[in-house]
Amino acid sequence: MIRQRDALSKLPNYRQGASPETDDVVKLSSNEVPFEPLAAVKQAIAAEIDTANIYPDMMATALRERLAQKHDIDPMQIAVGAGSVEVASQLIAATCDEGDEVLFAWRSFEAYPVMALTHGAEPVMVPLTEDERHDFDAMAAAITDKTRLIIICNPNNPTGATCSHAEVEAFMQKVPKDVLVVIDEAYEHFNRDPETALGLDFFKRYDNVAVLHTFSKAYGLAGLRVGYAIAPIEVCDNLRKVCVPFAVTALAQRAACASLDAEDELSERIEQLVSERERVIEQVRETGWNVVDSHGNFFWLRLNEDTERVLGVLFEYGVLSRPFHGEGLRITIGDPAANDRVVHALRAAHELISA
Ligand SMILES: Cc1ncc(COP(=O)(O)O)c(C=O)c1O
Repeated sequence: MIRQRDALSKLPNYRQGASPETDDVVKLSSNEVPFEPLAAVKQAIAAEIDTANIYPDMMATALRERLAQKHDIDPMQIAVGAGSVEVASQLIAATCDEGDEVLFAWRSFEAYPVMALTHGAEPVMVPLTEDERHDFDAMAAAITDKTRLIIICNPNNPTGATCSHAEVEAFMQKVPKDVLVVIDEAYEHFNRDPETALGLDFFKRYDNVAVLHTFSKAYGLAGLRVGYAIAPIEVCDNLRKVCVPFAVTALAQRAACASLDAEDELSERIEQLVSERERVIEQVRETGWNVVDSHGNFFWLRLNEDTERVLGVLFEYGVLSRPFHGEGLRITIGDPAANDRVVHALRAAHELISA
């Protein structure tokens, strides 16, 4: 028997959203956007293909410079990874020794506890409030002398709820100055809450704040894997030590730069998704469901013991959603036809549940 780490026996596998087996099924289980990459992005990728025999620039210099300009920060305050999930993993590796604690709200992004356990850290998961938001008082109360990293997911996956500026500001007063607070803004482009906390604003005002951004969501590059942290320089230096070398390909770096050059075109797509989200949530509410406001490219149905039944009805209508067994379903906003299908399916599901 090969000796492996005992800790892994209690580690769940990260579950990828279900994939369609037939053409008539829409995949709304992974918070992907329904658009192909922009033409300019495809061209940039094609132009890079000929250098695929060469290792990429590990520092992602051009991309970091471009991002530094956009956010008005020093390029050394940016560290990249193969998706923001890899950067989150780097952040845990850089801050936690065995037994140290990573604190976050729960339910939230499924990868957080998996990554904490992978690094030998303890996930400390603080239940959301009844209205599906971060419970900052309970999070502050859960800070111990072992807490090394706190993750705030804004907007929160899977509930879509935001954290307000006032809430995060008050919370920061209670966080020890040597504990890093990471604001994960994977869905920031879809966030229309005027009261929201903005990661960059906190980063610029606090020495112990980092922000996570990704090209996977609004920029539509989930398949190319590129994300980044905005963090204090001494943290970024360590992220570069613990990262997987060469994980961000030259293709991904070029595609990310081309996307930053095409922000106007991308904003139109984002606006379409945001207006579809509002339409779908309104229509789903009209069918009788109670849905909290969402600021991501998805919405959350708290279903508890009805989760499996509603999952089944959506599946009958050809919709793959993301179940959290015994808790609820997260449904990604897709193209208008897919969204119509969701509304029809949820109307039928509501009739079934209420019968
Ligand atoms: C809150 C949150 N953070 C980070 C990620 C990771 O995205 P990626 O690794 O593709 O950048 C996701 C993906 O679903 C997410 O929901």
